[in-house]
Amino acid sequence: MSREIVDIFDISYEGAGVGKIDGQVVFVPKALPGEQVEIEIVRRGSNFMIGEVCQVLKPSEYRVEPECPYYDFCGGCCFQHCDEDAEEQLKIQILKDEIKKAGYVGEVDFVDSDKRLGYRNKIKLDVQNDKLGFYRQKSREFVEIDQCLLADEEMNEALADAREFLRNNKFRFAKSVYVKRVEDDIAIVFLFAKEDPQSQKNFKNIDILQKYAVYFAFGEYLESNDTKLMGINAYRKLEYNYHDHKLQVNVAGFNQVNNYVADRLYEYVVELTQNKRVVNAYSGQGFLTYLISNNAKFVYGIEYQLAAHKMAEKVKEWNENYKITNICGKVEDVLPQVMLRDRIDTIVLDPTRDGCHKNVLDTIKKNDIREIIYISCNFATLTRDLGVLGDNYEIVEVTVFNMFPCTANMETVAILHRKG
Ligand SMILES: C[S@@+](CC[C@H](N)C(=O)[O-])C[C@H]1O[C@@H](n2cnc3c(N)ncnc32)[C@H](O)[C@@H]1O
Repeated sequence: MSREIVDIFDISYEGAGVGKIDGQVVFVPKALPGEQVEIEIVRRGSNFMIGEVCQVLKPSEYRVEPECPYYDFCGGCCFQHCDEDAEEQLKIQILKDEIKKAGYVGEVDFVDSDKRLGYRNKIKLDVQNDKLGFYRQKSREFVEIDQCLLADEEMNEALADAREFLRNNKFRFAKSVYVKRVEDDIAIVFLFAKEDPQSQKNFKNIDILQKYAVYFAFGEYLESNDTKLMGINAYRKLEYNYHDHKLQVNVAGFNQVNNYVADRLYEYVVELTQNKRVVNAYSGQGFLTYLISNNAKFVYGIEYQLAAHKMAEKVKEWNENYKITNICGKVEDVLPQVMLRDRIDTIVLDPTRDGCHKNVLDTIKKNDIREIIYISCNFATLTRDLGVLGDNYEIVEVTVFNMFPCTANMETVAILHRKG
């Protein structure tokens, strides 16, 4: 493989440095704009190359030593080699470049996390031959890891216990391990591709997992309606208190991974939906629906995962809030019915990385919804959907909520107002 010297002049949307060799673009993960690096070309595409840093010849003033021992191999983080100010500037620049495609050229606000490491309340690791790890970025190469610095110490201890449990039992279809923190409780979920009564009959050394809420799940991925979930010590309720609100988490349901930033995001949405008639689409376990309902005229929560919908119903019941209507179904099917039933002022959209179904956008466009609050963890689909809404809606505000420090991911909220 050949070595080249490259000046990095830009940043890609995936957080890689961008340079040029003989006029052709080269993406260099873990290099910063303003740096000169010696790289090895590891991939040649038809109109781009990918390089790996061998040596930083001229470092950026923002470069710092990454704390994670796996940083060079693991595909999880891509901003541990710069300080937090640089990460903020780079993320704003990435988002501005992307959202320009949807016609927005205004300012982008940034709400930072309180921590850069140890902020995640949920981590997922893959299992390969009883080993726990991640896949290398854009590769099927497995990287075994002992700890992930994005989670706290206790969660990493849980990971070590999960690893030992897997080693002792030699399960045949173990796929992933999830560790989730809910206040002082830690839950471990072992996800299996399919059931295997033989290897799951006699759990060895279950004692090492006594202090955790332990679950076995069977299916393709955890947050699916088709996945079967079994609590081993299900007496643990995974309850928590948010200010004076009593809440509970279903381990198989979605939850925002960074508590501090999620709180800021929810406060922002609650403020915008005061006294409004609201639809909260893709509503998960209903926590945001509940918070919105406290100040809104009423709110519909629409969620298709049954486990999450049931939790949303519990939250409504416990807190005796009857301004909420939770509907279990796909937003693309349910939203047209809701629009026939009630007049809606504001719709909150918080879809998965795939973005919104076309029917959802068409329904919004056909109806006189004044405001859209679009929360997205994937600015590629966000930009696509904003483009579709562009004839009828104007983007008035864009904010990055730094839910995932040190990684290229970001939670973006775009506020749209109906034109005319
Ligand atoms: C990014 S999460 C947002 C959850 C929630 N807003 C929160 O803050 O916890 C997306 C949610 O949308 C749900 N979902 C995905 N596709 C859906 C669809 N077509 N209709 C309804 N819900 C969907 C997922 O199950 C998941 O709970």
